[in-house]
Amino acid sequence: MKAMLYRRYGGPEVLESADLPKPTPGPHEILIKVRATSINPIDWKIASGKIRLLMPAKLPQVPGFDVAGEVVEVGSAVSGFAVGARVHARLDKGIGAAAAEFTLASPAVTSVMPDNMDFASGAGLPLAGMTALQALRNLGGMPLSGSKQRVLVIGASGGVGHLAVQIARAAGATVIGICSGRNRAMVESLGAQEVIDYQQPDPYRNLQACDIILDCVGSPYREWTPYLTPSGAFVSALPGPAVILRGLCNAVTRHKVHAVMLKSNAPDLRILDDLAAAGKLRVIVDQSFPLSALQAAWQRSISGRAAGKIIVTVDS
Ligand SMILES: NC(=O)c1ccc[n+]([C@@H]2O[C@H](COP(=O)([O-])OP(=O)(O)OC[C@H]3O[C@@H](n4cnc5c(N)ncnc54)[C@H](OP(=O)(O)O)[C@@H]3O)[C@@H](O)[C@H]2O)c1
Repeated sequence: MKAMLYRRYGGPEVLESADLPKPTPGPHEILIKVRATSINPIDWKIASGKIRLLMPAKLPQVPGFDVAGEVVEVGSAVSGFAVGARVHARLDKGIGAAAAEFTLASPAVTSVMPDNMDFASGAGLPLAGMTALQALRNLGGMPLSGSKQRVLVIGASGGVGHLAVQIARAAGATVIGICSGRNRAMVESLGAQEVIDYQQPDPYRNLQACDIILDCVGSPYREWTPYLTPSGAFVSALPGPAVILRGLCNAVTRHKVHAVMLKSNAPDLRILDDLAAAGKLRVIVDQSFPLSALQAAWQRSISGRAAGKIIVTVDS
């Protein structure tokens, strides 16, 4: 099968195309014919080698955590997935391996896609969507319906942020999105009731206190505590040491500070699928690339300017 892989740590230039044997599913695995994957910053952060102590690549490494495609074979112990089913997943074994014509997934992280979801959206949703969901619900304490909270999303136009805006809105929360003026219309169209352009002078002068602040850009949490309600939570998708250390004190502090660490699982993916099927959640596609142009797709992600998700389509 065709795949993209890297044999050494580095930037996008280390990606190369290769012919690899088609994987064979073990008893507890599903073989998926990949129709699309999406780029997440973690893909190129792992490839850089800078976080190899925490997340080492297994060289040569096929990258890609998010997959959408069709089931072509199921392991003998797998139930609930038929050959031909349209599925998606955030792969949980090793470092992904979705940038290929075929990949293996565990049923525990795989969900059948809603009929109204195309492969691009199916590939854009799992990692970013579950991160947003788990940050808001598990760490921010947002119920999935009847939320009366004010939820601030820093980086509301990015992969995680644009899904967080919609998940919070679907839950009933009042959503304030922070983005550049360029992406204001997009974030408004996702349902944010207030949008703040971070490039304007003194942008937060009128910002009222929020119950949950979800940071998708690595902002220093101390700058945001004046905008938290007394029992509010600051949740970081990009935690530095300060956030992690401060999080250890949550038992004795009023404001809570959390670092989200995505745990891939099919029940959470199905929650997102249900929202999408109901028309309450959609993946905005920033740009789409063929698999052979994975280097360019990574460069777009590294630019930090993606609005929505970067999608990579896989043709056979
Ligand atoms: N901990 C976890 O489990 C986990 C899971 C997923 C992601 N993450 C991390 O979370 C971060 C976000 O991921 P992502 O996929 O959402 O990234 P992304 O899609 O690459 O984010 C790009 C977006 O960030 C916006 N942005 C950049 N600087 C900003 C600022 N100062 N204020 C507001 N918006 C700003 C950009 O908008 P403009 O162009 O308008 O500036 C762009 O739309 C990454 O570092 C990723 O590694 C962590």
